[in-house]
Parts: sequence; structure tokens; C-alpha cells
Amino acid sequence: MTKELKYVPLFDQAKIKKRVEELGAKITKDYAGESLVVIGVLKGAFIFVADLVRSIDLPVSVEFIGVSSYSGTKSTGAVRLTYDLTADIKGKNVLLVEDIIDTGHTIDYLIEALNVRGPKSLKVASFLSKPEAHQMHHSIDYIGFEISKEFVIGYGLDLDQYYRNLAYVAQVKQ
Ligand code: IMP
Ligand code: MG
Repeated sequence: MTKELKYVPLFDQAKIKKRVEELGAKITKDYAGESLVVIGVLKGAFIFVADLVRSIDLPVSVEFIGVSSYSGTKSTGAVRLTYDLTADIKGKNVLLVEDIIDTGHTIDYLIEALNVRGPKSLKVASFLSKPEAHQMHHSIDYIGFEISKEFVIGYGLDLDQYYRNLAYVAQVKQ
């Protein structure tokens, strides 16, 4: 764990809560009359998923998928599946939920991997997005906040596995 890490608050709890509720309301409206499989991308999305599903008023089931693509604050580019779904998504409406989309390599990989399983629909929600860093081929359907390329922690986001438990999002000062 880094000694004397400097970080400054970016989004506080009230701001996050309001935005997540807005996304939940939009998703509820967009999928009216349908059911939804929410797939959280481990580990970072676990807190966003927990809050988001409680803001969605639809029949929702929750799954997780595990990938690993990062070491420290730099992308390694290579994505690896570390944990798979426990349910079949064939013919289902799937909402893939990420903590943050940086280069987009992770989400591109996951979209390809899930599309071959034949879902009825597949959309992506990400709590945060760094548009300046994007290199991906797919688009994001629901975005919480757009941020600059700086590294952030908290609300599920880690720095070498720590700080996920911060209730707010903070920017790391290198
Ligand atoms: P991508 O494949 O480059 O889009 O990276 C996505 C993954 O990298 C996310 O799921 C995060 O786990 C991690 N990541 C990217 N940027 C940050 C950040 O600023 N803080 C913490 N994790 C990040
Ligand atoms: Mg991570």
C-alpha cells in the first residue's frame, strides 16, 4: 500500500446517490414491461451495482463476472476472465455494469464474450467514464459521470486493491 497517498474528493455521497437514482429511473423507463439481468464487473462495480439495482423498479436478477486488466495505475492492455456467470443469459436482457471505462479494452472484451451467448439485448452502464482515454469499438449506454484521465479511487474503485471502501470518489494526486 502506498505511503502518504494524496487524494482529493471529486464526488461526494449525496452527488453519487442522486446520479445513481437518476440512472436507475432511466433504466426502469427504458426497460418497462421487461426483466433484466444485471451483470456487475468484479471487483470494482460491486458498490455501484448494489446501489443501482435498488434504484431499478423491474424484475432484476444479479450476476457477476470477473476480469483483471490492471496492475497499479496503468493498464496492461490484456484482459483475463477470473470469474464467470452462474446463469445462462440466452434470450435475456443484459445490462453489463462497470465501475469505470478507461481505454475500454475491458468492456470491448466483455461485450464480445457475452454477445456470443445470445442475449436478447446487451447494454452497458458505467459509473464513471474517461472519454479522453477511450479506444474502444462499442458505445456506453448509461454513464454516471465523465471525468478526466486522472486516476480515481473509492466507491468500489481501487488502487492496488485498497480504497474501495471510501464512500465518495477521490482523485489521486501523484
Ligand atoms: P479499461 O479496460 O482501460 O477501460 O479499464 C477498465 C478497468 O480499469 C476498470 O474496470 C477499473 O477496474 C480499472 N480502472 C481504470 N481507471 C481506473 C481509475 O481511475 N481508478 C481505478 N480503477 C481504474
Ligand atoms: Mg480495478
